This record gives sequence, C-alpha cells and structure tokens, in this order.
Amino acid sequence: MSKYQTLQEHLRSNQYTWLITGVAGFIGSNLLEALLKLNQRVVGLDNFATGYRHNIDQALADAGHAFTTEAFRFIEGDICQLESCHQACQGVDYILHQAALGSVPRSIEDPIRTNQANIDGYLNMLVAARDAGVRRFVYAASSSTYGDHPDLPKVEDKIGHPLSPYAVTKVVNELYAGVFARTYGFNTIGLRYFNIFGKRQDPNGAYAAVIPKWVAGLLAGEEVFINGDGETSRDFCYIDNTVQMNLLAATTDNEAATDQVYNVALNDRTSLNELFHFIQDRLIERRPGLKKVEPVYRDFRAGDVRHSLADISKAKTLLGYEPSHRIDQGLDEAMDWYVKALGLAK
Ligand SMILES: NC(=O)c1ccc[n+]([C@@H]2O[C@H](COP(=O)([O-])OP(=O)(O)OC[C@H]3O[C@@H](n4cnc5c(N)ncnc54)[C@H](O)[C@@H]3O)[C@@H](O)[C@H]2O)c1
Repeated sequence: MSKYQTLQEHLRSNQYTWLITGVAGFIGSNLLEALLKLNQRVVGLDNFATGYRHNIDQALADAGHAFTTEAFRFIEGDICQLESCHQACQGVDYILHQAALGSVPRSIEDPIRTNQANIDGYLNMLVAARDAGVRRFVYAASSSTYGDHPDLPKVEDKIGHPLSPYAVTKVVNELYAGVFARTYGFNTIGLRYFNIFGKRQDPNGAYAAVIPKWVAGLLAGEEVFINGDGETSRDFCYIDNTVQMNLLAATTDNEAATDQVYNVALNDRTSLNELFHFIQDRLIERRPGLKKVEPVYRDFRAGDVRHSLADISKAKTLLGYEPSHRIDQGLDEAMDWYVKALGLAK
C-alpha cells in the first residue's frame, strides 16, 4: 500500500477540520472535493477575485453523497483582512492556503494588486494560522521561484532571480515561511506547483492557463496561439497528483519533512508543440467532426522561462509522493470535463 493510500484509509475513519483558502478556484475546489470524499470537515475562504461559486457547487456535487451538509462551511472574505483570516482559522487542524492572484502577465500589468493578495494576504494567513495553533500550514508556492536559474531538472535548493512580480511574491512567501519557523517555531510546508491542470481550471479571460484556453479555442473553431516557436517546455502535472501532495504534506509526521518546500510535478517535460497535438488528437476522438488545424506562432511572452522540468525525488523521499497520473492519463480525464463544461459536447 502506498503512503497516500494508507493516509486515505486513515482519513476515512478519522475526521479533521481543514481550511482551504481560494476554495472557489481551480486547485482549491479540487481539494474541497477530495477532502469531502474522504469524510473530512472543510472551511472554505474566498473573495471570488478569480474563483467562482459554481466551482464550489460542482465540487460539492462531484463529492456526491459522501458528506453531510455540516461538513462544509463557506466564508466569503478577503485574506487581505486579518480579521477574516482569524475567523477562518478558528478550530482548524490543517490549512491548505491556495488564495492568491495567479498569472505572470497579470502581475506584470498590475504588480500592486498581485503583491497585496500574494504577500500581504499570505502574511495575514501565516499570522492567523500561527495564532490559532493549527497542526500544519501548507501553502501554494510556485515553480516561478526558479526564475533564471539554468539547471534542469529543477532541484529545490537551487533558485535563480525571479523574472516577474508574481515570482517575487512566491519567493517572499517562502522567505516568510522560513522566518516563521526560525522566529516562532511555526513550521510550514511550501508546494512549488509546476503547471497544474485538470477540471475546473478557468478557460476564460486574458490570464487563462494554456490547456483550458486551447481546448476552448479548438472547440470553438478559433485560432490557437503559441507564444514563441513551440519548443518551450513545461512539466505539466495533473490535479490528482497535486491533491495527493497537499494531503501528504499536511499530515506528515516526519519532522525532517517540515519547514521545507517541494516541487509538485511529474518529472516529465512536454513541449507546447507536443501538448497542442495531444490536445487536438483527444478532441478529435471525442468530436470527429472537428477539423485538424495548425497553431499560430507569435512572439515569446515577457517573463516566461524557456524550459521547466522538476526533480521530484525530495517529495518522493520525504513525503512518500507517488504521482498517480502521467500527462496523457490526466489529459484523458480532464478532456471529458472540458468538453462538457464548455457546453459543446455532441
Ligand atoms: N495552477 C497552476 O498551475 C499554479 C502553478 C503555480 C502556483 N499556483 C498557485 O496555486 C494557487 C491556486 O491557483 P489556482 O490555479 O487554483 O488559481 P485560481 O485563480 O483558480 O484560484 C485562486 C483562488 O484564490 C481566490 N483569491 C484570490 N485573491 C484572494 C483574496 N485576496 N482573498 C480570498 N481569496 C482570494 C480567488 O478568488 C480564487 O478562487 C495560487 O496560489 C497560485 O499562485 C498555481
């Protein structure tokens, strides 16, 4: 039995209270669904800056009848308000802090708003979590922290200079986490997400992530753009692997595993050209009427790194992480959802 299977068994028969910030977002709503399916109690905090009520509704529906109505409590609030953070942390065992303004281009256009949510809001959550004496604070860090460091694969202790305001905020999160461990003895775990994908990832808006944006574009018969020559590569990681890492990190009893950051990825590099064809092939399988098209190449985007590939041995060794989905398995699962969610299934 894997470490994660053992943990799932344990959670099914032992109920804890979890706080998920950013619960109306992509990753937060998937964490909600997974925890409810494991018979856990969840408090969710979100201000709907980029998340949606329908993500919460869908997560509850997808969790089916696996939970009682008392199992989930939602607080509409902003992590920039310390009071909301204190309120949300009351009586909580584990915190999965996801709330932030994502997207490198958004941060380049509006660094002040990104800074407020991602640094001021984060610090409020750290203080509230420390004051509430929670068992563990796990937070969403980012692969953008590697910045201009040339080494591949990325190993946790070798980082470069940040390439965007967003990356600065995620570096600062890690610095505060270290200071809270040294100053207050409050140990946290940071998860450096690489490119996470899966159901409920927003396909709309100027800052949409590449997979949902392309699926939506191809289904609508619109042009799909690749920034650069398409040989830019990423370590795409399916949401189920991300949920696994959050739960393992929150509950680990390995002391050496805390006050640490971990890559959350697959250790598998996919170029944008390869990704485009993976997606198009899967869509054509589901909708044989779709015409095969070529992507439109345009300029590289400011702040983007050329290649990204993670070493995941630290997470495997210290937390017992075993990714359950390769990129193709994740795409197969997620594609059905995208086709359905966009209302274009035939
Ligand atoms: N998706 C990825 O590939 C990826 C990669 C690296 C890091 N991350 C990080 O993971 C976390 C979750 O990302 P996601 O992809 O689910 O994004 P998302 O935008 O879908 O979710 C973020 C959620 O946080 C909420 N939020 C934002 N500001 C808030 C505030 N001030 N107060 C309360 N709630 C607020 C939003 O409304 C949204 O529901 C973020 O911290 C993001 O930076 C994501």
